[in-house]
Amino acid sequence: MANISESMALALSLQANHEKHNELIYNTIETYFNEQNLSGFAKLMSDQKNGEKVHNELLQTYICDRSGKVTFEPIVYPKLEVDYLLGNPESLIEIFKLVLETEQITTSKLTELAKIAFAESDFQTFDLIVNQMLKEQIEEENLSETWLQKALMLSDCMPSIMLWNESLLQ
Ligand SMILES: [Fe+2]
Ligand SMILES: [Fe+2]
Repeated sequence: MANISESMALALSLQANHEKHNELIYNTIETYFNEQNLSGFAKLMSDQKNGEKVHNELLQTYICDRSGKVTFEPIVYPKLEVDYLLGNPESLIEIFKLVLETEQITTSKLTELAKIAFAESDFQTFDLIVNQMLKEQIEEENLSETWLQKALMLSDCMPSIMLWNESLLQ
């Protein structure tokens, strides 16, 4: 018998799906940078991608550990409509805006999930969402804001952008 309500398992499954979607977003951005041989930025996005994969698997494993059922939904690769950075340094701003937005959306989805868990008095799920996942979002959003700020400062200076890219490989 399930130790978790059907509605909670479904809500967690949708979040797992969302994390998978995030993984695809970062994969798309990673490839965008790799296409332009910007391996430093690509590595940064690869690390983000791997983090999202961990979140997806964490939620799936958690549902199973509570004897719940994981629901899967089809996911498509997001379309990245941004000029190539090498032709338009401003596009770095667009990319990091997307990164920050991705993390902000995730934080609000996790907040909704915590509300559902609390309303059901499912404090194990509440603990996972609040103390593990939402806590991690503080760093995720903070990092994304720092990157965006840096992109805004460097957007008119391609040599500095190239140096930033190089520094990410060290
Ligand atoms: Fe995530
Ligand atoms: Fe994230």
